[in-house]
Amino acid sequence: MGEVSAEEPEQRETRAEPGEPVIATHALTKRYRGGQLAVDGLDLTVPAGSVFGFLGPNGSGKTTTIRMLMGLIEPTSGTARVLGQPMPRATRAVLPHVGALIEGPALYGFLSGRDNLIRYDSADPAADPRTRRVRVASALDRVGLTAAAGKKAKAYSLGMKQRLGLAAALLQPRRLLVLDEPTNGLDPQGMREIRALVRELASDGTTVFLSSHLLDEIAQVCTHAAVMAQGRLITQGPVAELSAGARGRLVVTTPDPAEAARILKEQGVADVVVTDDRVMGEPPDRDLAEVNAALVTAGVRVRGFMVERASLEDAFVALTGEGFDVAG
Ligand SMILES: Nc1ncnc2c1ncn2[C@@H]1O[C@H](COP(=O)(O)OP(=O)(O)OP(=O)(O)O)[C@@H](O)[C@H]1O
Ligand SMILES: [Mg+2]
Repeated sequence: MGEVSAEEPEQRETRAEPGEPVIATHALTKRYRGGQLAVDGLDLTVPAGSVFGFLGPNGSGKTTTIRMLMGLIEPTSGTARVLGQPMPRATRAVLPHVGALIEGPALYGFLSGRDNLIRYDSADPAADPRTRRVRVASALDRVGLTAAAGKKAKAYSLGMKQRLGLAAALLQPRRLLVLDEPTNGLDPQGMREIRALVRELASDGTTVFLSSHLLDEIAQVCTHAAVMAQGRLITQGPVAELSAGARGRLVVTTPDPAEAARILKEQGVADVVVTDDRVMGEPPDRDLAEVNAALVTAGVRVRGFMVERASLEDAFVALTGEGFDVAG
């Protein structure tokens, strides 16, 4: 750190060393003026080429972290590097390589969606005016806004505004996309579309860093994830490893649910819940073949016996010992 002078940051090389993470923070901390410790000693490592889910409940410090990464606010202490450069010092060199959508994109309500993008594109000195219309049309198409492009942005729904903000981040090819809650305000179909878009971007080699307070919603597209709670990092790593930490749920399908529930409790299954012909619970620390045998021996007609894979949300609950709720 300390190589980049403030006077000529855009002259500097922003290409990270091979193998160097696209984002790396060390003990990154933000205490707001009011005293709120929003981010507390964060060590985050985002590998190049990953789709990285930055997950945590409302108020866990996601947006605050993203603002520090983008050079919008100064950390109280600790360091952040983006594309190999220290932030916020190298903001001017780094930001041209980063497409960002940060909480509630700034839009001109009196302009149409298309004109908002034209305006946005015009503000980018690197954007060739001759190809502007094509660029804008293709960004609108990618986020599914072509049909609504002529409508004034103030008449857009939250989901449409979100799509427009995303389109703005997609005007230029970038090495890194930072999307703060990109599925906010979207219906399930819209969320599917965003996931497909993220997959497509990632397949072009763009690193995508996206935040969400809906763990399982976004985890579906992520190769890696970090989970925050109350400003602290709970865990990070490849998604498959994160949910492997939590045990899945045992699900027994049977026409004899009451009897099955009784036997399962006897067998050490915790938190047993019965819904119609399904009995679910936390599997005990023993051979599940024995649990199954006990059901059969007791005359329970077992039609299905399986352990559902743990979700990231299960993992979160297991790690924090609490639900995925807003902290005070
Ligand atoms: N400008 C600010 N001044 C003071 N406190 C703030 C400010 N912005 C955020 N906070 C506080 O910092 C904490 C983290 O907020 P932040 O917006 O980073 O969370 P988040 O994870 O993005 O939440 P959400 O999922 O709701 O977007 C919260 O307790 C919040 O109240
Ligand atoms: Mg936020």
